[in-house]
Amino acid sequence: MKKTRVGVLISGRGSNLQALIEAAKIPSFPAEIVLVVSNVANAHGLGRAEAASIPARTIDHKGFASREAFDAALTEALKAARVELLCNAGFMRLHSESFVKHWWNRHLNIHPSLLPAFRGLDTHARVLEAGVKLSGCTVHFVRPEMDTGPIVAQAAIRVLPGDTEDSLGARVLAAEHRLYPHALRLVASGAVGVEGENVASSAGVKAKGPQAALFSPSLDEGL
Ligand code: GRF
Repeated sequence: MKKTRVGVLISGRGSNLQALIEAAKIPSFPAEIVLVVSNVANAHGLGRAEAASIPARTIDHKGFASREAFDAALTEALKAARVELLCNAGFMRLHSESFVKHWWNRHLNIHPSLLPAFRGLDTHARVLEAGVKLSGCTVHFVRPEMDTGPIVAQAAIRVLPGDTEDSLGARVLAAEHRLYPHALRLVASGAVGVEGENVASSAGVKAKGPQAALFSPSLDEGL
């Protein structure tokens, strides 16, 4: 099986990176991680890549005069590794429009809310403040506006009475670790693709009959 060559962008802890690393160890998984890039030199996730013998490097944004120059260096490194699909996993930099265009429909992000609700930072605090009863996480294709783009998959998590940012965040994070590999499998295998500005099952999958290509686990079930 030809595996899709994936690059992962991180800035910190890298627990989602770890989930992708574990998934990619499964022989039938349709993607392999060929490069991890961090914009922060001491990011914990770099050690996770090294432990898994995945090439990892730091490209520190502080060394560049502009966002465009940093992004160009990123693309150069990713191209040198022949990356076909890019996954942001806790990457804390906004991308320039030219970078987003370059990786259009080949670039995923994970966000800890049910988008389009609660885009941006401090998600769990704002979820609690708003009093919503469901939160969750979303994997989506990247578009120029932060935390927008065609949605590949979502997992919903109950907000429980007495939840704190930490307790809710921990349950959402556990869901992220299941959701991101699932979404990457769908995209890397070609089971889904972008149609218009939505994600849909690709024709080949439809031809094989109905299946849960756009599975969105509801509540905590199936996670
Ligand atoms: C995750 O909650 C992810 O959704 C958000 O940043 C966090 C990164 O965590 N974009 P980790 O570095 O993957 O542990």
